[in-house]
Amino acid sequence: MRIEWLDLPDALDQTRLPMPPPTADFLQVTQLANLVTSLFWGNNDFYVSPENQLAGATSRDDVRTSYAVAREPLTGDRPDRIIGYAALSLPWEPGASADAQPTAAEVHVAVHPDFRRRGVGSALLREAEAEAVRRGRTVLQSWTDNALLDPAAVGSGPVFVAGTSLETGLTPVVRTPAESVPDAGRDRVRWQAPDAAFAAAHGYELAQVEWASVLDLREAAGAALVAESGSGAAEEHGYDLVGWEGACPEEDAGSMAGLLGRMAAEAPAGALERVAEHWDVPRLRAEERARREMGLTLITTAARDRSTGQLVGHSDIETFADLPQAAYQGNTLVHPEHRGRGLAVLLKAVNVSQLLRLRSETERLYTWNAAENGAILRANQELGFVPVATHPAWQKKA
Ligand SMILES: CC(C)(COP(=O)(O)OP(=O)(O)OC[C@H]1O[C@@H](n2cnc3c(N)ncnc32)[C@H](O)[C@@H]1OP(=O)(O)O)[C@@H](O)C(=O)NCCC(=O)NCCS
Repeated sequence: MRIEWLDLPDALDQTRLPMPPPTADFLQVTQLANLVTSLFWGNNDFYVSPENQLAGATSRDDVRTSYAVAREPLTGDRPDRIIGYAALSLPWEPGASADAQPTAAEVHVAVHPDFRRRGVGSALLREAEAEAVRRGRTVLQSWTDNALLDPAAVGSGPVFVAGTSLETGLTPVVRTPAESVPDAGRDRVRWQAPDAAFAAAHGYELAQVEWASVLDLREAAGAALVAESGSGAAEEHGYDLVGWEGACPEEDAGSMAGLLGRMAAEAPAGALERVAEHWDVPRLRAEERARREMGLTLITTAARDRSTGQLVGHSDIETFADLPQAAYQGNTLVHPEHRGRGLAVLLKAVNVSQLLRLRSETERLYTWNAAENGAILRANQELGFVPVATHPAWQKKA
């Protein structure tokens, strides 16, 4: 087995055979990434096309991702097969001084199921950690898919892959009663699952537990009800609800950037190290350009305070043209001076109605929330979301 860093291609060239090595290698990485997520979820709701994954690695100003791969020789003169990879993402604060830069690097390791428990993951992780340290990072973080709690809610079925002996994540179903909001805490992590066992074996500590929840959009009556009953109340309290698809309209870009700047500081982070993020209109526009390259279109609903004309809260949903059946809840934030008035749940509900109108083919909306974020978990429950998986965050000092 050999470990090496990939040269990422500028673009994927699949028009000739054999494909140029950087294209062929990157395609193998994305196939492996998609295999691993589909085995966990039992569905294709987390499929990322090679084009979108490449754009995600290279087109953002505030984070760059590189890939170390493990190769296993194949017989004959065929190029070696990629059996595992480590994705190393280095966040960067555009315009910030050196001492205000993020200290953390994010790492994600995946190994083909036929090659596990042979030290491949460990070798990849060692390489990624060493590179993070070479690049001046002192903290490593990782988010993993840990336990699938409710396969039925995500439409899971068995995943068949020819010629391999694969186990899916469809192991014992631990049902969370619909009426209870899940607790925070260590006891919610399935410690014997590969991700947790691997993280613990390499000195990573549990820094936060997130719940993944899903809303069945074919039965999103709860959300529609909240949207209908709440919109009038918002207007009475002096807020106008506005919505858009894609780039933020020019007149709201300044206050939108202000809200995005609050997100990193105000979303619960558990024990995770974070640095302050500064957002202005150029950063917002750069992010919007990167999203377009990644095939990602945001659907946004925001509340405008009529007395100041400023946006004071927003909620957005991520959609991909090549993934019509699934959408992902993005940020939801309400400015501190406007909290406690039910705006967050209303913004989410109205945005779900917008999603249904704009993307009628979408079946499931996923969201990830910190287990200690009781307010948002209760709001989700009101809208009809059910918890489906645990998603722990891990951290280690380099
Ligand atoms: C987690 C993952 C990367 C491990 O890859 P791997 O090549 O099997 O890892 P290694 O062989 O280097 O395992 C190193 C140690 O981790 C622990 N470990 C890894 N998988 C384990 C499992 N299924 N059960 C229990 N312990 C496990 C063990 O302590 C193991 O040492 P040992 O084999 O000597 O007992 C792999 O299972 C995978 O791709 N999972 C899906 C993606 C994922 O969850 N990634 C999260 C990591 S960022």
